[in-house]
Amino acid sequence: MSNNSNPVGDWIAARLPIREFWRDHMTGYWAPKNFNFWYFFGSIALFILVMQILTGIWLAMNYTPNAHLAFGSVEHIMRDVNFGWLIRYMHAVGASAFFIVIYLHMFRGLLYGSYKNPREMIWLIGMLIFLLLMAEAFMGYLLPWGQMSFWGAGVITSLFGAIPVIGQPLEVWIRGGFAVTNATLTRFFAWHVVLIPILLLGLVFFHLMALHRVGSNNPDGIEIKKHKDEHGVPKDGIPFHPYYSVKDLFGIGVFLIAFAAVVFFIPGMHGHFLEPDNFQPANPLHTPPEISPLWYFMPFYAILRSIPNKLIGVLSLGAAVLILFIMPALDRNPVKSHRYRGPIYKLALLVFAFTFLVLMYLGGLSPTPAHADIGFRFAELYFSFFILSIVLSRPHGKGFYLGTLVLALALIFVLDWLRVGDIPIHLMARTWWIPALYWAVFTILPAFTNLNVPKPVPERVTS
Ligand code: HEM
Repeated sequence: MSNNSNPVGDWIAARLPIREFWRDHMTGYWAPKNFNFWYFFGSIALFILVMQILTGIWLAMNYTPNAHLAFGSVEHIMRDVNFGWLIRYMHAVGASAFFIVIYLHMFRGLLYGSYKNPREMIWLIGMLIFLLLMAEAFMGYLLPWGQMSFWGAGVITSLFGAIPVIGQPLEVWIRGGFAVTNATLTRFFAWHVVLIPILLLGLVFFHLMALHRVGSNNPDGIEIKKHKDEHGVPKDGIPFHPYYSVKDLFGIGVFLIAFAAVVFFIPGMHGHFLEPDNFQPANPLHTPPEISPLWYFMPFYAILRSIPNKLIGVLSLGAAVLILFIMPALDRNPVKSHRYRGPIYKLALLVFAFTFLVLMYLGGLSPTPAHADIGFRFAELYFSFFILSIVLSRPHGKGFYLGTLVLALALIFVLDWLRVGDIPIHLMARTWWIPALYWAVFTILPAFTNLNVPKPVPERVTS
């Protein structure tokens, strides 16, 4: 019998193990005491997921998934429905907020090696969530049936057509016809409001189940379960509830202040969260001068556009996302947190984050050969990070590092040679040094200095 003398609670608890659930996953779940602000983003992501589902349900009450009526129904929501403007802006800004938070959440994983043993499953499920989030955002963007919705969907679905053998039938299957039509709108609507949200909720449940199986990592990258007191309680742990439930609520509060400021004062974010072209109804007879996806797809879009061959571009775009799945297999360094890895790895992480932001910027520029070339250089840096993760996994002799440098330089040369004819040579001659310098720095420094040597990892958490 429980200590709680609430008869209704007791009646329920005798039939449903909610108290055990609360104890196992809240009051009796021990989380490391040294979480920092990077650990806010998981709970904020959860909050946004719920917010997107709720605002989505309310939007669906007044939205009409029909190519003739969709654009007008969104205008109706904005102008006539009580608080329709607020719900629509919350949902649209929420999509961008979701990606900001998820990118930070993922970067935290890279900073603290949260993808490493024993948390590979949390990471893999997280990556599946990321793929689904991209699909969810892409399909949602078609629903207002504006110019960008229509032409953007055309461009992205046509990418599938570049895949050999199955590409064409796949493209037709996704579109529900040979072009983007009402059939595309109705299936995207069904996938966006029913299929993907259900899958997302299921995967988030498994994500947290996997997290609670092994416990959270932390900024020191130390397994708190290794040091338990005589009661079996981790010495560096504190109960998730009330300590982190309250801390997470604070994080959500701060998020909401920033979110409300954007929703109420600058919902379009100068065309980055809502594109001006999308306030024009879709017109299959008028192609907008520039078709570009929203900011969160830009890094991958920049990689696609930087490669002259369409098939290789599509494969590189796919590889840019999928390579993150195998991060646990690439970075085998036993030290988890960047705090205790050599300065070289810290620099590599910093350059990776910078590369991602530069690609995001380049994805929004007009598609000129010069932009394609600089995009290619940053695509090279993007993929280089993953190869470097393997190289920096363990110490090597000088010969290994120098051999890697020679190989990298040869690869840069071969890739440039393959682009001759598509990109003017004088452009390539101006930028080849970017990946070359990257590899020179990241091979010569570990070869001749001790900057790749990890610091001793403390036994217990430090703060
Ligand atoms: C809807 C999207 C997602 C939600 C709601 C979500 C939620 C959460 C929550 C609540 C936590 C625990 C709190 C925290 O550590 O911040 C967590 C941890 C984690 N998530 Fe996610 N997540 C999502 C997507 C992702 C993605 C896309 C990845 C990366 C591929 C990812 C990787 C991880 C990892 C590695 C951890 C463990 C971190 C650690 O212990 O250091 N998650 N997630």
